[in-house]
Amino acid sequence: MIQTERPVRMLIRLTYTSTFRPHITDADIDGITEKAAAFNRRHSITGILAVEGERVCQILEGPREAVEQLFESIQRDQRHYGVVELDISTIEKPAFEDWGMVRRPMVDIVTLAFSL
Ligand SMILES: Cc1cc2nc3c(=O)[nH]c(=O)nc-3n(C[C@H](O)[C@H](O)[C@H](O)COP(=O)(O)O)c2cc1C
Repeated sequence: MIQTERPVRMLIRLTYTSTFRPHITDADIDGITEKAAAFNRRHSITGILAVEGERVCQILEGPREAVEQLFESIQRDQRHYGVVELDISTIEKPAFEDWGMVRRPMVDIVTLAFSL
């Protein structure tokens, strides 16, 4: 019997930091997270968004093309600036559940950095 290979979908994890513009409110951030969660779920992307003051750190995981395309939009987004990509790596499986995007305290990202 001929074994057909399953198509391999490359998964990546991308982590970046940025800074919200001063006029961005907590309600704005909740709005961004809510929209992001819906979009990300539709594109098999998941991750977390941590905000402390104006500083942002976000981890995005999912199919390479989808994550890279989303990151391009995020980099163009005028609601924040100074986007710095910290890490991009291929992963075997996502670390986060299928929630699209959630907001978490910054300390969770620090904890994750030592456990992922
Ligand atoms: C800090 C930050 C994080 C964001 N994260 C996401 C995200 O995870 N998913 C998403 O769909 N949009 C996210 N957005 C919104 C995108 O930047 C952008 O508005 C959205 O992809 C629509 O892009 P478009 O207007 O170019 O189509 C984020 C925006 C900011 C400022």
